Amino acid sequence: MKSLESNSEYKEAVKQNTEFFRAIRSPFGYAWWLVFRAPKLRKNRARIVELLDMPFPEWQKMVLETLSWFEVWMHSLEPITNRIIQEVERLKETKQEPITLASIGCGGMELERQVIYQLIRNRFKFPLIFIGIDYSPPSFEVAQSKFEKLEAKGLLQVKTISHLGTEELKALKAEAASHRFTVVLLKADAFDLEVLPQNSFDLIYHTRLRHHLSATEGLKLDKLSTYLAPKLVELDDLFTIRGTIITSIFAWRFPAVLNGAIFSYLKDCCKREITAQQKPGCKIDLNGKIFSCYLRVCTKPD
Ligand SMILES: C[S@@+](CC[C@H](N)C(=O)[O-])C[C@H]1O[C@@H](n2cnc3c(N)ncnc32)[C@H](O)[C@@H]1O
Repeated sequence: MKSLESNSEYKEAVKQNTEFFRAIRSPFGYAWWLVFRAPKLRKNRARIVELLDMPFPEWQKMVLETLSWFEVWMHSLEPITNRIIQEVERLKETKQEPITLASIGCGGMELERQVIYQLIRNRFKFPLIFIGIDYSPPSFEVAQSKFEKLEAKGLLQVKTISHLGTEELKALKAEAASHRFTVVLLKADAFDLEVLPQNSFDLIYHTRLRHHLSATEGLKLDKLSTYLAPKLVELDDLFTIRGTIITSIFAWRFPAVLNGAIFSYLKDCCKREITAQQKPGCKIDLNGKIFSCYLRVCTKPD
């Protein structure tokens, strides 16, 4: 952390994170931070930078691995897993070429792992491509290790690329036609997809990504997603004081994860803010009693 102190881009982030890690040396220090410092950060939440957004690959890897573990353990991906399965079951009735899904800010791809296992159990046989887009190299290390077993059994193929243009997408679809599941790891920024033509994908989705973007980037990503696919599905957590306290207890033994979870919560929308975003073509469902999250589905008009 000290190495970034003189870097103007991360100066404030270093201050926020150093203060947080000092506070969690004791439960009393953390309680003090939660009561007196966290509300101040939330007031200026566009400026919060969590550890995951800082250039520390080892920590990024550890946070993404533990996030996947929490996602399994708390079943927190269930609403979006069910929705994606529902969409691919519907798409397979009309599609002639492989169904192509894009997962923006895919992280360790725990969602895709759960979707693929469920589809295998459902005996789903149609060619399906998952394109995971993330600019953080550690995310692909985590994702790759998750698919090793399935790849070894010949149930899916994994490809890593660093650019996706019209020609590359065409080639991917042609190759995927003879496979059941293809997972493509695209090391790129979400906005690099701007080069692709309208409706390049059948569905775009993202989970726990929005709070990593500024408000302007969020709107820009919505616009881009509904240009590149007929449907966008988004899942993210909602800020609640109850969720913040319970997460603090569960993640107390994992400092880097506690940082990611609590800083993310402080950046997340609350229920009132998210329901205000309901508009024609975008439906929002709220889920979860203890850990609240929302599922937003936006459909492009025909
Ligand atoms: C909190 S993680 C969520 C990972 C995964 N979707 C999940 O729910 O487990 C957010 C991910 O978004 C990625 N990310 C943030 N902004 C991005 C951007 N503009 N383009 C690509 N990836 C981005 C980060 O690198 C990180 O892996």
